[in-house]
Amino acid sequence: MTAKPIGVFDSGIGGLTVVHALMQRLPHENIVYFGDTARVPYGPKSPQVIREYAAQDTDFLLSKDVKMIVIACNTVSGVALDVVMKQAHVPVVGVIRPGAAAAVAASKKKRIGVIGTVATINSKAYTNAIRQLDAEAHVVAQACPLFVPLVEEGWTHHKVTELVAKEYLFPLKLEKIDTLVLGCTHYPLLKEVIARVVNGNVTLIDSGEATAMEVERILDEHRLRNRSALKPHLQFFVSDVPAKFAEVGERFLGQKMGRIHRAHGFLL
Ligand code: DGL
Repeated sequence: MTAKPIGVFDSGIGGLTVVHALMQRLPHENIVYFGDTARVPYGPKSPQVIREYAAQDTDFLLSKDVKMIVIACNTVSGVALDVVMKQAHVPVVGVIRPGAAAAVAASKKKRIGVIGTVATINSKAYTNAIRQLDAEAHVVAQACPLFVPLVEEGWTHHKVTELVAKEYLFPLKLEKIDTLVLGCTHYPLLKEVIARVVNGNVTLIDSGEATAMEVERILDEHRLRNRSALKPHLQFFVSDVPAKFAEVGERFLGQKMGRIHRAHGFLL
């Protein structure tokens, strides 16, 4: 049982930032990753469609006999956590609660900003999770839909990205936030630009890192930690293989990816 893989899924390639965080914290765990690259982005889609997709993505990972499921996608975590939990007979972790808890722990002034896709921000999942943990917290949420395509294009340090960031983050600066949740798989790659734009005295919360800590806790609680010290087996499945997948994926993961498998049957 303990040698079974952890299943991780995302709307596409961005969830590899969460895989990267998992590999840092849990270097002996086998991982199966599914990225729904045929149907990405989920962020601008309706909750109903995102919930249907999440159910299909979960089925795929369950067919790989995973010991737990990590929803790397903030959009799915915000809109369809209940769908995945209902369907899976293994522990499920989304990125919202761990990210919210890390933000509450980090914020001294209780003024927290949250950025994410349109669906994540509309779901109010981060705002609700933060307020559940600290009813006095002041939360300012802002959708940043252009960030995802800019990162996919590789423009993580481009002046255009900096201009876009200034525009999106201006209202958060006015609210004098001291903590900012990077509530989207792609945003950790924009950490430098975002830190520069918010002026350095704002703590940036990477939900992926916070989630990896939560995964570790759950594995220990269920005695599911892999006891083998062998090099872990990493498998990557995607529903379509765009030309830039390996190149962009390696940037997200910070290492070579090996073979990328095609998963079939994910229709629009
Ligand atoms: N993975 C999504 C998220 O974290 C971003 C990309 C998308 O819109 O599908 O919200």
